[in-house]
Amino acid sequence: MRTILLPPDEAGIREAAEALRAGQVVGMPTETVYGLAANALDPQAVLKIFEAKGRPADNPLIVHIASLGQIHEVVSTFSPTAQKLADAFWPGPLTMILPRHPNIPNEVTAGLETVGVRMPSHPVARQLIEASGLPLAAPSANRSGKPSPTTAEHVLHDMDGRIPLIVDGGNCGVGVESTVVSVGDDAVRILRPGKISPEDFEKVVSEVTIDRGVLESVAQDAKVASPGMKYKHYAPNANVVMVEGSLWDFVRYVRVHADHSTGVLAFEEDRAVLQLPFFRYGYAADSESQAEELFDALRLIDEAGLKTVYARMPRRSGIGLAVYNRLLRACAFQVVHLNHPMQVVGLTGPTGSGKTSVSAVWARRGAQIINCDRVARELHQDAQVLLSLSTVFGSDILNSDHSLNRSRLAARAFATPDGLQKLNDIMLPPIIERTLQLLEEYQQDGCAVSVLDAPTLFESGLDAVCDVTVALEANRDTRADRIIQRDHLTKREVDNRMQAQHGAEFYRERADVVLVNDGDLKALHEKAGEWFDGYAKEHGLQP
Ligand code: TXA
Ligand code: MG
Repeated sequence: MRTILLPPDEAGIREAAEALRAGQVVGMPTETVYGLAANALDPQAVLKIFEAKGRPADNPLIVHIASLGQIHEVVSTFSPTAQKLADAFWPGPLTMILPRHPNIPNEVTAGLETVGVRMPSHPVARQLIEASGLPLAAPSANRSGKPSPTTAEHVLHDMDGRIPLIVDGGNCGVGVESTVVSVGDDAVRILRPGKISPEDFEKVVSEVTIDRGVLESVAQDAKVASPGMKYKHYAPNANVVMVEGSLWDFVRYVRVHADHSTGVLAFEEDRAVLQLPFFRYGYAADSESQAEELFDALRLIDEAGLKTVYARMPRRSGIGLAVYNRLLRACAFQVVHLNHPMQVVGLTGPTGSGKTSVSAVWARRGAQIINCDRVARELHQDAQVLLSLSTVFGSDILNSDHSLNRSRLAARAFATPDGLQKLNDIMLPPIIERTLQLLEEYQQDGCAVSVLDAPTLFESGLDAVCDVTVALEANRDTRADRIIQRDHLTKREVDNRMQAQHGAEFYRERADVVLVNDGDLKALHEKAGEWFDGYAKEHGLQP
């Protein structure tokens, strides 16, 4: 059998719909992952899905519908709670386990009295269901045990010669499979996490529980709410190990354990500090991007032929719970928990907010301070850095003795719209590397607390190596006065500089702690000292 890719246009949909009506299996894009679709009412067609996937017969399929008008063809009762959930989340990435209609054959439900039903939002999936006039049974379109496919190429890779048609709908948006829930009375139990998160359900029903199988491994012979949970899933060829800890822990662990056949599965922000075969799955603080990229990354790892891959642990809120759940299975539940003894405190805030004063207070209490501005100034003597700066900002930012004319560089960088971005692009990678070296030195020295004093803590991604982040806030006029006195600038220059910086909300949104510097220096010292003492006590530190 040759497998043909069809475009998602009218003719493509028509051809695919005819194949479905004739009892064939078709690769179908959805907003989550690609599915292998067949007529849910035809046992022979459904058996072909199991054959093509190599799927165990006791793992039931999800039935896809395009409108609520079809619901009573597939379920025997549709409770008010199910209706409420449908109103809130359909069409979309939610699968509800509901009492099956007698029309639905055992081949679909694996003999269960329930059926999983979902109304996808992807236009191509909806058109296929409508054009075929059928409810479509569709599991993810991977070979059993492989990562779910998020592109038509992935489907072709796994299914070439096994199915006649794939409709190519491009990249799936969500990237992880739908949330599967069993529906109770004003309650849901999450059997498989997805884009629709526990937090989302809490807005619609009064009781939300997460099934044990979501976060724990399930014995092969166990009786589970969702049979899919007991199968080894998403298993790449490499041994994948998840490492819990900050980026800082991760970097140290990988530096010690890596050899020539080791890679890392990490976030874009981590790239600069990880000099190994790098597989990206999204951005550290953006669970949606992680969901989008995870399965593709796992497939790329397979192609690279690595022995071991260390993976950063994702956040577990929102869709992050789904990312964690899938990665946990790809790791076969191997997780290393690290707990570094040294606390890293990130200190940030706009210019003039009082960072230097606060660092001094903490230094007197035994903290080691890494002043990222100072690190930057040291790097301003680095030949490579100077070359990059003069290429971008003009050779006249260098003095005649080839030292950096800092005020001219600052004037250029703050005056042009993307100047600051360009400056960061040049300066941040070496600043990060040097900062990590300093952290390592302090940790080796047995230091209990080190402080990263960094005006661009969040923009640089260095916040990822911090255990806690503290932002200082001060009103604009106070800050302006301080800068004028400290740096001998004119009012206009100060305005320019402050214009280019973030407002208080930026820091409030990101920092764990905000200290407001609205009094005199003595008050700031007291406030900063008090916070530090509390933190040290809470963490049993003796700096
Ligand atoms: O996003 C998705 O849900 C994708 C796209 C194609 O729609 N489909 C998908 O199907 O991921 P599949 O077969 O790979 O996963 C279905 C999951 C399995 O874990 C299965 O055990 C569970 O849903 N399931 C299906 N019917 C069930 C039932 N009646 N009771 C409990 N769990 C069920
Ligand atoms: Mg699957």
